[in-house]
Amino acid sequence: METKFLDSFTKEYKQLLEAELRKLVDKPDAPPIIKEAMHYSLEAGGKRIRPLLLFATLNAFGQDPKKGLLAACAIEMIHTYSLIHDDLPCMDDDDLRRGKPTNHKVFGEAVAVLAGDALLTYSFEVVGRIPNGFASPDTKVKLVIEMAKAAGVEGMVGGQVADMNGEGKTLTLEGLEYIHIHKTGKILIYSVLAGALLSGANEVEMQNLSSFAHHLGLAFQIRDDILDLEGNEEVIGKPVGSDTINQKNTYPTLLTMAGAKNALQNHIQEAKRYLQQSNLNIGLLTEITDLVASRDH
Ligand code: IPE
Ligand code: IPE
Ligand code: MG
Ligand code: MG
Ligand code: MG
Repeated sequence: METKFLDSFTKEYKQLLEAELRKLVDKPDAPPIIKEAMHYSLEAGGKRIRPLLLFATLNAFGQDPKKGLLAACAIEMIHTYSLIHDDLPCMDDDDLRRGKPTNHKVFGEAVAVLAGDALLTYSFEVVGRIPNGFASPDTKVKLVIEMAKAAGVEGMVGGQVADMNGEGKTLTLEGLEYIHIHKTGKILIYSVLAGALLSGANEVEMQNLSSFAHHLGLAFQIRDDILDLEGNEEVIGKPVGSDTINQKNTYPTLLTMAGAKNALQNHIQEAKRYLQQSNLNIGLLTEITDLVASRDH
């Protein structure tokens, strides 16, 4: 598969993002331990797929992706907070994340909870600080409202609650889809829509991209479920078999592995169908979609 454009784009924008994240977390006047814990998880690695989706969406509109740098940092902070909390003993109880011991294993549970809280709250300050030249005050308010919805009870938090409630039970496919769309899809959808908002997209473009990202988000979490069974711990950087131990509902448990792979392909095709319907420059977004289908980590 030809991924040259995505490879060089990823290299350039990952570097920019990671430098900005470091700078942002260095800045606050706060007890050193909390900053250390925030740095630890943010800089442990990670694919940075959500920031890349935001940058690629700006590119699709012919905009300078750098306009999205602070919004991308905010999204990666929220995502990283969700991982720190997801790994806690009271949630998935995992010891490995991004190839390193989980935050609570290094800093203890109290600091891990607070590092998550700190990343979440800081993300809203960061969006508020987007220069007016990049986003009007109206656009910034929209970015904040949509980010809160994507991360909160109507989004990721709601999905995580349903995921926990479903442990040890057999859900319907509809119930499982709710979990996946909420715990994972909503923040992925927001990453695309934030790029569209910063590009001044119209209603039709927003709708179309939202449908694209809906299918991409589902595909992303189905692949995550598959990797929990078929992945290599060293490659995925987190434990294999965590879902089985926690008796989670996943696509493979509900539909068999073959059924899960089939569902993954269907959502990838649907995602591409929506992309192709847009009149945008979809090269990068298409490459990211292919990557989501075949990723090994
Ligand atoms: C893991 O997300 C949690 C899910 C929502 C599936 P990623 O697979 O994007 O993890 P990182 O950021 O690359 O570590
Ligand atoms: C978690 O889903 C999604 C989040 C909101 C963090 P998982 O529990 O499957 O994510 P991993 O496999 O631990 O990364
Ligand atoms: Mg989980
Ligand atoms: Mg987990
Ligand atoms: Mg998982």
